[in-house]
Amino acid sequence: MSGAAAPSADRCADDAESRRLKIPDAADGEAVPVTVLVIGGGSRGRGYGFFALDFPKRMKVVGIADPRLFARTQFQREHGLEKSSVFTDWREAAELARFADAVFICTPDRLHKDPAVAFAAKGYHVLLEKPMAVSEGDCEAIVAACRHADVMLSVCHVLRYFPPVQKIKELLDKGVIGDVVHIQHLEPVGHFHFAHSFVRGNWRREDESSFSLLAKSCHDLDLILYWLEGKRCLKVSSFGALCHFTKEHQPPGASSRCVDCALSDGCAYSATKYLAMAMGGHVGWPVSVVCPDSKASVEAVRDALRSGPYGRCVYESDNDVASNQVVTMEFEGGTTASFSMVAFTEKLCVRKTTIYGTKGELHCEGEGPVRVHDFLSASSAHHHAASVVATTRLCGHGGADFFLVDAFISAVAKKEPSLILTGPGETLRSHLLVFAAERARRENRVVVLGNDYNFTSRWSSQQITASGAAAAGSVTDVTMSPPSYLWIGQMIPF
Ligand SMILES: NC(=O)c1ccc[n+]([C@@H]2O[C@H](COP(=O)([O-])OP(=O)(O)OC[C@H]3O[C@@H](n4cnc5c(N)ncnc54)[C@H](O)[C@@H]3O)[C@@H](O)[C@H]2O)c1
Repeated sequence: MSGAAAPSADRCADDAESRRLKIPDAADGEAVPVTVLVIGGGSRGRGYGFFALDFPKRMKVVGIADPRLFARTQFQREHGLEKSSVFTDWREAAELARFADAVFICTPDRLHKDPAVAFAAKGYHVLLEKPMAVSEGDCEAIVAACRHADVMLSVCHVLRYFPPVQKIKELLDKGVIGDVVHIQHLEPVGHFHFAHSFVRGNWRREDESSFSLLAKSCHDLDLILYWLEGKRCLKVSSFGALCHFTKEHQPPGASSRCVDCALSDGCAYSATKYLAMAMGGHVGWPVSVVCPDSKASVEAVRDALRSGPYGRCVYESDNDVASNQVVTMEFEGGTTASFSMVAFTEKLCVRKTTIYGTKGELHCEGEGPVRVHDFLSASSAHHHAASVVATTRLCGHGGADFFLVDAFISAVAKKEPSLILTGPGETLRSHLLVFAAERARRENRVVVLGNDYNFTSRWSSQQITASGAAAAGSVTDVTMSPPSYLWIGQMIPF
């Protein structure tokens, strides 16, 4: 046989030692700590606060707002805050003259827009949890407010800061698989995680949070746009539904509360799992979420399962968000992408990505390695993301949480917005794509996207744009540079 070389054994493209880099305590140009006001001291807000505790030369928390007594007093104690810096609502802090460089907005999904707009108007740089907001108009209003006030906006698309995602981007930019023709991306939510957050928990109802594609997978559509940077999405379609977690699937004889249920031992979704976790000494996520008003303990979990939302039978909740959804997209030049979000999985948010190019194929699952197969040489290489051993408690999302805050704090300290990988233009674009996909699902049609990705007023399924039209209106205002140091950290869902 001539031409193609015989397949060789997989080889390791990077050597492990070269991936170990150090976390600096203060980066160049960060002489004084950036001061931060935290709005919402729940899971996310408290976690981001650890950056200040672990890197006090870089960030200092100077205020907290949260209506929950337990959350705000815990936060106050951890950061040694004066009573005058502790607020029961974001509005109290927003009424004062600006007293911090930046604000971290970590409130529930439906409470993002108003504080983001108010604090931007006061001159705070804004780190805003995802999703930006729950409607296109509100997302646009946030971006407009930040641009008008000339403040930085970083939306917490933590996946962009996930080391394997950066490695994939680097390899694609180098052209290792030629021109990208198709992306296949899967978000396996995890069966118990879905039951926890999207059947019993805070993201179970659209009218209280948002539809599940926005709540769970705005990250994923953002990644597809990121990897295909420069190519505009032209059309999107989507299908999906809420399966299984409905009353008609409740087995005969099941009780409304798992602690009283005779079928509990045979149910994969039984809330008694929380109790087993607490009894085994695990009181972090998701057990901590079950007891929002106290420190998690076996007794507190037992009480919460008797009366709180997390003790409900999954077939008797008031949930309405989709458990599985597919999105298909067509980009300029005929490139296609498909995304699937599935609740019923063994793996917990361990994304699986395959990217098909004209010269080869790239595959990555979770933390990697990224495997690249080259068609010509018929050989495969494994590429590892750079890593260091973490010395911070902010290590969620495989280290991505740290890199997100690290980038934002550096950007504020150095007045350098390009350090933020998820700036306003790109984030708005990816959110608008999510809204378009959801519209396609609900209206059972293909949605054709305008130059600015907006479809609500200006575009309909009948208005087909010229294929390959330039992306005149889509703003890309952040130039990507990979984080200078990366590590492999703990994996929790995002
Ligand atoms: N980036 C990610 O990967 C990621 C992961 C999980 C959650 N999130 C998002 O982060 C946000 C927060 O999620 P969470 O898990 O921390 O939720 P949480 O419920 O633990 O925390 C939210 C906090 O906001 C507080 N709050 C409510 N109203 C307030 C008000 N008026 N003023 C000040 N604080 C108020 C609540 O009391 C609560 O403590 C949500 O939008 C969520 O979707 C993002």
